Amino acid sequence: MGPFAWRDGVLHAEEAPLPALAEAVGTPVYVYSAEAIRGSYRRLGAAFAPLGARFHYALKASPNLHVCRLIRELGAGMDVVSGGELERAWLAGTPMHEVVFAGVGKSESEIRAALDGRFSPLRGEAARFGSPSPEGRDAVGLFNCESESELEAIARVAGQLGRRARVAVRVNPNVDPHTHEYTTTGKVENKFGVDADRVVELFDRWAGDPAVELTGLHVHIGSPVPTVEPYAEAIAVLLSLIDELEARGHAVRVLDLGGGWPVDYREGEVPPIEAYADRIVPLLEPRTRAGLQVCLEPGRFLLANSGVLLTRVEHVKRGRAKTFVICDAGMHVLIRPALYRAFHFVWPVRWSGAEPRRAEDAGLAGLASCDVVGPICETGDFLARDRRLPPLARGELLAVFSAGAYGMSMASNYNDHGRPAEVLVEGERALVIAERQSLAALLETERSPRELDLGELPVAEPVAPRPAQPK
Ligand code: LLP
Repeated sequence: MGPFAWRDGVLHAEEAPLPALAEAVGTPVYVYSAEAIRGSYRRLGAAFAPLGARFHYALKASPNLHVCRLIRELGAGMDVVSGGELERAWLAGTPMHEVVFAGVGKSESEIRAALDGRFSPLRGEAARFGSPSPEGRDAVGLFNCESESELEAIARVAGQLGRRARVAVRVNPNVDPHTHEYTTTGKVENKFGVDADRVVELFDRWAGDPAVELTGLHVHIGSPVPTVEPYAEAIAVLLSLIDELEARGHAVRVLDLGGGWPVDYREGEVPPIEAYADRIVPLLEPRTRAGLQVCLEPGRFLLANSGVLLTRVEHVKRGRAKTFVICDAGMHVLIRPALYRAFHFVWPVRWSGAEPRRAEDAGLAGLASCDVVGPICETGDFLARDRRLPPLARGELLAVFSAGAYGMSMASNYNDHGRPAEVLVEGERALVIAERQSLAALLETERSPRELDLGELPVAEPVAPRPAQPK
């Protein structure tokens, strides 16, 4: 039985009955199972154990501090993509050398804080979160660098600080992950990484630089990657690059395979993680035996099926063409259906019938088609479309499954809704790990306008005329 199952006609998270939880904290609310997170971490660990792989949790999937702390306690490092995420990793108790810093647009101030904690925006405030001051911390273990311009910035900042930054180059292997175009990241038309045929040149140019140590290669082809083969293709590109680099005297110590490890949103949708490992481990084992450190950046795999979203039905509207089940959660709470047409299984929390199949067609009698929508003033605001569900009434609670990853982290205040609460369940205990955002908190940054002192306008440099473009 999974972490979310119906018992006595009521959906539970572990031992906690969800109607009582929703009553106590209100809706919409994200509910996570601690044991499910731990279980998925152990499963991934076992699958890739032959490689001695290190895991850096891609905390963008579910950045709540307490979720990060739980995963940190399992031994994971953190994969961060912004200065904000970097500080979360620190507040979650991650030593900086176990943090990898990815992202295509790192600013100089983010790079500075990643190299030297005296520049952390949380200086003086970490104690409020029960964490030591960032001031004395070391530099991040690895920058996953996406362009030569970024490499120059890292070298510039590290040089100013008298530090040497460890850097892996993110390679764009031009591989199709066969996922949604918005989360396809490893094709040459995507903004990510350095084209594979430019990587050797980059190592040649930067080898021996006093401020950066080029030490590895990184790749992340997309998210989720629903078949195994694209990983094998990307790994082939990276291994041949490693061979070429080593032949030219560059040591490659780290190979970071990124994330994208998929989960079932529908039952039986993707191959099990063990099938990915079975294909990948033999490709890399000879290298890890020779000393290569393999890293993975799982996000979704740990969280997606470890969380559900609870939402209450506000109204049921039987229109001429369709029945609309209007809920208090919509695209402002869970944007994945609107943004990617992503599938999330939806079912009533109180349910005494047979176990539904988690798919478009639950495989039960007595269902009727409806659109499950939110309160937002957009037609794209839906959680599920043309879905066959049992008859629903106002006040009923629905569970939106597989919502633990990229749910809360992509929630917004659109239409002036506060962000939802988050609850972590452990056995029969339920801990509120994020309070529902109040309207006052939402309005706080707009409370008192502040006039800017614009001073004197700097005298503009004359702009050189553009050279004529050849026809
Ligand atoms: N590493 C890098 C460099 C990434 O860009 C990502 C995700 C990950 C790791 C983690 O991928 P995961 O293992 O979670 O699939 N918002 C989308 C997903 C976008 C992911 C962006 N990068 C969604 O809701 O499906």
